[in-house]
Amino acid sequence: MKVRVIGSGSVARSLGRCFTARGDEVMLGSRSPEKLEEWRSESGEESAGTMAEAAAHGELLVMAAKGTEVESAVAEGGAESFDGKVLMDVTNPPVFGEGVPTLAWGTTDSGGERLQRAVLGAKVVKTLNIVNAGQMVDPEVPNGPATMFVAGEDEEAKAEVTGILGDFGWSGVIDLGGIEAARELESLCVLWVRYAVPAHDFGAAFRLLR
Ligand SMILES: NC(=O)c1ccc[n+]([C@@H]2O[C@H](COP(=O)([O-])OP(=O)(O)OC[C@H]3O[C@@H](n4cnc5c(N)ncnc54)[C@H](OP(=O)(O)O)[C@@H]3O)[C@@H](O)[C@H]2O)c1
Repeated sequence: MKVRVIGSGSVARSLGRCFTARGDEVMLGSRSPEKLEEWRSESGEESAGTMAEAAAHGELLVMAAKGTEVESAVAEGGAESFDGKVLMDVTNPPVFGEGVPTLAWGTTDSGGERLQRAVLGAKVVKTLNIVNAGQMVDPEVPNGPATMFVAGEDEEAKAEVTGILGDFGWSGVIDLGGIEAARELESLCVLWVRYAVPAHDFGAAFRLLR
């Protein structure tokens, strides 16, 4: 599958490597693709482009831009290029100041919902935002397995993403319903920071006991 990741940071590169290992054809999209030279030399000439090139040619899209800038990333990508596509949203919108970050949109809206509103024709599925980049694939959590969630409006899209999560080592993925569940999933990122940073436990992940 042609997987296009909107983003050039540690999450984009980490997920890019994992999709490549799965056999997918991957391109990362950046406003400044020249910053991806190292990634290009590792992954091939065609593995980096602009956000517009990435959004246009992807069969599966992944949003891995800064969480408070997803609307800007959509504008860079060209909103119409997202139409009809599954869009995995792994972003969080924290605002960093002193101490524990707050959520840019509070708890009555979320980055996931804002992204879905920005690309009404896309099938946004929120997932993977509750662990750090290194734990998104083949998570190794002492006392695991950890739990992963999906949230979004389109059932088929969530089923497709759940299949990908299975390839990435997540079993028993829990469907939380519509994209408004991104409010709670993004709040978990703040809870994660509140625990993991002072504890220096960056591999920590959540587990739902039932
Ligand atoms: N780091 C983690 O462990 C982790 C874990 C879970 C979730 N997340 C979430 O995953 C996302 C990516 O995280 P990250 O640490 O890899 O990268 P990041 O530093 O949060 O974001 C870097 C990306 O955001 C893009 N960006 C920044 N400002 C922009 C703007 N005004 N318009 C368009 N794009 C803009 C950059 O694009 P350019 O390439 O054009 O500069 C770059 O690709 C974030 O939402 C983060 O909260 C991160």
